[in-house]
Amino acid sequence: MRSPVPHRQVRLLYVSRAVGPQTTTVTTGILLQAQSHNMTQGITGVLCQGQGFFLQVLEGERNSVNALYRRICADTRHQDVTLLHYEDMQERQFGQWSMALIHLSVDDPQVQMQDPALDPYTASGPQVLRQLQHWLAAGLPIQMP
Ligand SMILES: Cc1cc2nc3c(=O)[nH]c(=O)nc-3n(C[C@H](O)[C@H](O)[C@H](O)COP(=O)(O)O)c2cc1C
Repeated sequence: MRSPVPHRQVRLLYVSRAVGPQTTTVTTGILLQAQSHNMTQGITGVLCQGQGFFLQVLEGERNSVNALYRRICADTRHQDVTLLHYEDMQERQFGQWSMALIHLSVDDPQVQMQDPALDPYTASGPQVLRQLQHWLAAGLPIQMP
């Protein structure tokens, strides 16, 4: 007898440009949607917002992550959604949060890019993932939904 095929788990990272100002109302709306949906789908991750862009990493079962990414691409609150990285994963790196929020405030010295020349639209996916890990390790304030 064959053993059941395990559900593939993937990690997806994208960057996008906000349409209009990134107000608390917009962000709270996104987070509330993310919280309830991601919880039921077993999706975890982190959303960074500020400086006019969104960076988001999504982890979970492949079909669920792909379906969510399609919806996110169609969302009119942002544009230029660009896939930076997509990989099979053995274990989650961002498993603590259904969707954590990191504010990338220009005034916060910890928010400086490790490499000041790092532009998410041209950097490699692994570079941006390392930057995200760095922000988390630096203890940037995280707002949990
Ligand atoms: C930057 C950004 C990040 C988002 N992240 C999520 C998320 O993690 N989970 C989620 O369910 N919706 C997220 N959304 C909202 C989705 O795009 C979509 O509005 C929501 O899933 C509802 O889809 P529906 O109207 O087709 O049901 C995000 C939207 C934006 C603009």
